[in-house]
Amino acid sequence: MTERTFSIIKPDATRRNLTGKINAVIEGAGLRIVAQRRIHMTEAQAKTFYEVHKERPFYGELVETMTSAPVVVQVLEGDNAMARYREIMGATNPEQAADGTIRKLFALNVGENSVHGSDSVENAKIEIAQFFKDADIVG
Ligand code: CMP
Repeated sequence: MTERTFSIIKPDATRRNLTGKINAVIEGAGLRIVAQRRIHMTEAQAKTFYEVHKERPFYGELVETMTSAPVVVQVLEGDNAMARYREIMGATNPEQAADGTIRKLFALNVGENSVHGSDSVENAKIEIAQFFKDADIVG
């Protein structure tokens, strides 16, 4: 089923000029980038985005990392886009990520793991709505 998911190319990746290489993996996997914008996340945006993690010990570090440099926020569309993107991102911790995945190829460590992808279709809708208006998404 055609669906949409939300993606972030994180500061560790934009800093190393990896946006194009990551987009090539995304497009190579059959996912279409139907909206994309480069932004410098504010502290408030990062805190809202990662609110589910606010009791975790790494929350402060996570917010700091995500606001340390520009990110690229994206909407990806395709067959089973949420699960497909998680497959090609690889495990959260790059040490556990499978060969050929974005995190295996590019991530530095669990906190600087190059990309974020929604973990459910329901969350994808919420995350997309935080950064995009319907009219910004051209499928
Ligand atoms: P992401 O998919 O963006 O969702 C939450 C993020 O928290 C996750 O990717 C990691 O980058 C980060 N994270 C998860 N576990 C840790 C950890 N133990 N230390 C630092 N960051 C973490």
